[in-house]
Amino acid sequence: MAADICERFHFALCGMYYDAIGIFGYVNFLVDKTRGEIITTLLDGLQRLEYRGYDSAGIAIDDDSRNSTMIIREVGKVNGLREKVAATDLDSSVVFDNHCGIAHTRWATHGSPKVENCHPQRSDPSGEFVVIHNGIITNFQALKTLLTSKGFQFESETDTECIAKLFKHVYDTNLKAGITLDFNELTKQVLFELEGTYGLLVKSTHFPGEVCGTRKGSPLLVGVKTEKKLKVDFVDVEFFTEQQTNELLMATAQDNLRTSQSRAFLADDGIPMPVEFFLSSDPASVIQHTKKVLFLEDDDIAHIYDGELHIHRAKKSAEDTTVRPIQTLEMELNEIMKGPYKHFMQKEIFEQPDSTFNTMRGRLDFENNIVTLGGLRSFLPTIRRCRRILMIACGTSYHSCLATRSIFEELTEIPVTVDLASDFLDRKSPVFRDDTCVFVSQSGETADSILALQYCLERGALTVGIVNSVGSSMSRQTHCGVHINAGPEIGVASTKAYTSQFIALVMVALSLSNDSISKARRHAEIIQGLQKIPEQIKTVLKLEDKIKDLCNTTLNNQKSLLLLGRGYQFATALEGALKIKEISYMHSEGVLAGELKHGVLALVDDKLPIIAFATRDSLFPKTMSAIEQVTARDGRPIVICNEGDAIAKNEKVFATLEVPETVDCLQGLLNVIPLQLMSYWLAENKGIDVDFPRNLAKSVTVE
Ligand code: UD1
Ligand code: F6R
Repeated sequence: MAADICERFHFALCGMYYDAIGIFGYVNFLVDKTRGEIITTLLDGLQRLEYRGYDSAGIAIDDDSRNSTMIIREVGKVNGLREKVAATDLDSSVVFDNHCGIAHTRWATHGSPKVENCHPQRSDPSGEFVVIHNGIITNFQALKTLLTSKGFQFESETDTECIAKLFKHVYDTNLKAGITLDFNELTKQVLFELEGTYGLLVKSTHFPGEVCGTRKGSPLLVGVKTEKKLKVDFVDVEFFTEQQTNELLMATAQDNLRTSQSRAFLADDGIPMPVEFFLSSDPASVIQHTKKVLFLEDDDIAHIYDGELHIHRAKKSAEDTTVRPIQTLEMELNEIMKGPYKHFMQKEIFEQPDSTFNTMRGRLDFENNIVTLGGLRSFLPTIRRCRRILMIACGTSYHSCLATRSIFEELTEIPVTVDLASDFLDRKSPVFRDDTCVFVSQSGETADSILALQYCLERGALTVGIVNSVGSSMSRQTHCGVHINAGPEIGVASTKAYTSQFIALVMVALSLSNDSISKARRHAEIIQGLQKIPEQIKTVLKLEDKIKDLCNTTLNNQKSLLLLGRGYQFATALEGALKIKEISYMHSEGVLAGELKHGVLALVDDKLPIIAFATRDSLFPKTMSAIEQVTARDGRPIVICNEGDAIAKNEKVFATLEVPETVDCLQGLLNVIPLQLMSYWLAENKGIDVDFPRNLAKSVTVE
């Protein structure tokens, strides 16, 4: 079959509508659930994924006879889908003791979101095979041409639809040859034809109550809920040699036998027990049901039927591990809820005294000025010997690299470059075996950063992750790393992840140089500075009312804003500008203060709002000179300075926001907070849904 397709079509990356965002699936076995309850579980699961940003949503459930599948889809929010479901004449009282439902939120990166493009996508009008998918199928055009030639009629512009139709095609082709494939074996054959990335769930009228889930480059996990305590803490991976697979195929063809190496969730008496399975691309939608989860690895196929969870491999490789642990998620539901705050972003800004503390917890010994990063310990000698350090990231995470580059170079004496992941790949930047590549990411799932990581892995460099999401692709694919432990970040605008990434990177620089006697004093100074940061952040957060006031008056309805910073504060200026534009839609630009006279000064007049970072460090006199250049052109800047600084009395300065003083290389941790608050209040004043800014998604899992 693969050869059949390959021969006739060359696989090309085609212009397409590709989708990604949230997958949720629910299977009950020996647990009676009404259709209404099943739908509520699916929709609630989707609602938990809302924070990632999406433009449409859909679900697929069984009809009463199970001979066809009902698909309900809607553009817009999950609540809109809820209304659409309520408006149907479905009998929600029908009880199922075994059922599989799947649900999806989609974020189209090309083309308009419309109902036909929503997931689930189906193989045919009766929904013999129904699929939800995150990722991109790169050979979709070739598959579509083949399937069209076989008589399939496509209904959408998505790449996903070809997966559903391919399932039917492979199933029917085998059937004609007298072979009835097991759902898992069928999935394996379909995957053989697919190129690209996927997190995938498929349900079928041929396999009622069953689901197959698989992933490649896109996350997928399975939560397991049983009434009695689970007695297993791992699931075996079921491998077969080619011969065994053929024998099995023959056997299944004859008797429709099931594999015997199952991982059933059995009660003490050996009888299958009631069990519920929750499949998702994100633990946030599972923890309200169960904390017991299993993370699938690339090329795993999870096949759930009769209350059993089987893990198969789509492809066998030498590095395959034989078990998948069932882990206990430490995340609490209330950790992902808003608490007393109106928006997640506001909550996360105010969480920073705690989140920064958590980043340092157990890693910094403030009495003896020692840093211990468990995840890096055994790699430190290799990193110290490397020729250069390449920091690679996107957006806010990139800014945290810029903010710490200087202290990295000062402490490690190793040259450090900082790259945006997309540009790094565009340039096909040279990477060598003796390079250390540091990848910084909140989500650990950002497509550009993952591609850059794979690029560096292929070239033999040592890769280090600085990641928030434990179990994310990046955290697992890097050789080693540091979890920043900031807790789940839900607001689309990254805030607490920035300050925690900043601290984690400083701690890495400290670890790398902890054998240097000449740096001992500087070390002690920084570690003592870090200890005070959480309390100092609390002080800065008290500026909220003053900032709110500025947003209501001077900054209200302005079209543009300049942020001036140099040295350590250039990164703060860039990060502040990014926050303001993404949340409040106001144009803002971070400018290196030293560059002002090389062009940007032309913009300055008595109207353009300007914010300057003038906290006390070695570059303070130079920053002051930039401020004078601005005031000489009637500009009236708002200045972020240290508490009690004389600049506050300068009448040419419009206002000051005074922040506590800390060590020069840590000052950016405090200076960024007024800008986070400013972006929040500028957006809130405009009535913008701060947690869901337009056109943006929390986790950018497409290139
Ligand atoms: C670990 C435990 C923590 C425990 C502590 C006790 C985890 C996730 N962390 O924290 O719960 O309290 O030991 O000593 O179990 N890694 C990567 N890439 C990344 C991030 C991390 O490969 O991007 C690796 C690290 O190299 C390490 C592991 O993941 O092997 C855990 O990293 P991290 O959580 O930072 O380690 P600890 O702080 O030691
Ligand atoms: C900005 C923001 C984005 C992310 C960027 C990288 O507030 O959140 O710029 O920083 O998309 O995401 P991660 O850190 O998840 O790789």
